Amino acid sequence: MPWQRSDGRQPDRLRPIRFELDFTRFAAGSVLVRCGETQVLCTASIESGVPKFLQNSGQGWLTAEYRMLPSATLQRKSRELLKLSGRTQEIQRLIGRSLRACLDLKGLGERTITIDTDVLQADAGTRTASITGGYVALVRALEKLQNRGELTQLPLRYPVAAVSVGIVDGEVLLDLNYEEDVRAEVDCNVVMTGNLDIIEVQGTAESGSFNRAQLNRIMDFAEKGIKELLTAQQAALAETR
Ligand code: CDP
Repeated sequence: MPWQRSDGRQPDRLRPIRFELDFTRFAAGSVLVRCGETQVLCTASIESGVPKFLQNSGQGWLTAEYRMLPSATLQRKSRELLKLSGRTQEIQRLIGRSLRACLDLKGLGERTITIDTDVLQADAGTRTASITGGYVALVRALEKLQNRGELTQLPLRYPVAAVSVGIVDGEVLLDLNYEEDVRAEVDCNVVMTGNLDIIEVQGTAESGSFNRAQLNRIMDFAEKGIKELLTAQQAALAETR
């Protein structure tokens, strides 16, 4: 019997990706990103001023917060526990590093951008959806600032997108859903620029180990997925211009 994914996808196929821009009214940039059944609301807010360690440096800053809503998973989780969990801290730092990498902090000037990512529904890949959607919210917010004449050019170095790749039953699979994620022997998250340079690679063997040939295949799948995500980001942003 040929090997089958639970949702019928080929091993190197993404889940359907959709961006709903300007999903909320008050944040400078906002987007609801859907990767299959995973849904994350990403907003970007821009304030003047920077943290103390950057004052009078002439450069800006970007920070990120990530949270799952209590009812984002099959079993409800308490807001307090979600806030304090090490996983939350790890993920929000990853999102912050990834989106800071794509900014020209000098070009931003002494402003602070906060990216808030709130997971409405978690069907795996929430951190990668947060980065991919966070980038769209970030660009939208910067474009608004530029339209108001507060920026002469967008302080962006390159686009950024992220995807997960895993190994399930010995098969390398792109963009795992939850059913696959819980069974995965290997779980990787890859963040790349528009040139497919690497910003971050997280890779864990949940059981046993994996070899170099498998890692090469994982990176090939990640590149393919990220290329498609970058195209989808640009198409969504172009619609609002
Ligand atoms: O979401 P992502 O794949 O970035 O992170 P993960 O820590 O590998 O979690 C994978 C999935 O497990 C999440 O998307 C949720 O569906 C689920 N999960 C959960 O239900 N409760 C948690 N405390 C953590 C994860």
